[in-house]
Amino acid sequence: MHIHVLGSAAGGGYPQWNCNHENSRQARRGDPSSLQRTQSSIAVTSDEERWFLFNASPDLRNQILETPALHPKYGLRQSPIQGAVLTNADVDHIAGLLTLRESQPLHIYATENVLQALARNGIFDVLNADFVKRIPLVLNQPNPLMGPDDSDARIVVIPFSVPGKVALWLEKENGEIQTANVNEDTIGIQICEADGTTKAYYIPGCASIPKWLAARLKESPLVLFDGTLWVDDEMIRSGISTKTGKRMGHISVSGDDGTMAAFSSLNVKRKIFIHINTTNPILRTNSHERKEVEKAGWEVAYDGQEIRL
Ligand code: MLT
Ligand code: MN
Repeated sequence: MHIHVLGSAAGGGYPQWNCNHENSRQARRGDPSSLQRTQSSIAVTSDEERWFLFNASPDLRNQILETPALHPKYGLRQSPIQGAVLTNADVDHIAGLLTLRESQPLHIYATENVLQALARNGIFDVLNADFVKRIPLVLNQPNPLMGPDDSDARIVVIPFSVPGKVALWLEKENGEIQTANVNEDTIGIQICEADGTTKAYYIPGCASIPKWLAARLKESPLVLFDGTLWVDDEMIRSGISTKTGKRMGHISVSGDDGTMAAFSSLNVKRKIFIHINTTNPILRTNSHERKEVEKAGWEVAYDGQEIRL
């Protein structure tokens, strides 16, 4: 199996277009210690030919351009991209679907909740139903990913709910906001070979790590995990926003109740932060926070990163 990181930043990317925080300024002026990053998504293949996107970011067009493996290979209209698997309905994970219009056969896999959100929003009808099939994921079961020609892509996903919340753009119609729901709004994905061997977990959004989730991830070969914020009040401290990470449905990297602490005894072989916000100091290779995550055995995902499993 082969995972290609298409984008490693949280919604807005790094630097976010309107962010004038020093972190963002460094990336904008091309400082080599602060690599620019597009919005989070990975591409996965088991045969180097058929690829599935895991989330479809607003930066997808450029991500495809930057990734020769995803370019058309023959004929006049063709794509190695077989479809997309979605972990929630956040803008940074679904807006890229609009880039995939143009009558290309595809399969979109997502939970019923997320498919309903797409169905209620007419703009996604640009994905012509004659070509694009929307397939509900069955939680906690192996779901073999099938290409649009109904060929087995030899990737099996086991989706499972993780603590999270409904997408920001759907908050209004959901009444009282609950930020650590465990339902179909936010899922993690266990990515397996066709024979059922677990290769990786992809969890780009997660509000907390309860004991059951820690137990599930224990001893696993690779986890790509929500690295949105270093500390819960990061955006408040820097005067950028009034929102905490908790309110946004994201656990923080540091602290006693943070991700590094929760993973410290899990013996996960490879741990990679992804979906990293433009304000997070781990984006700068020379920050002490970056050194701290590296000391704890974590990597910080970057665009174009290749992971062979
Ligand atoms: C998030 O990760 O919290 C969302 O992407 C926020 C957003 O929709 O901007
Ligand atoms: Mn996001």
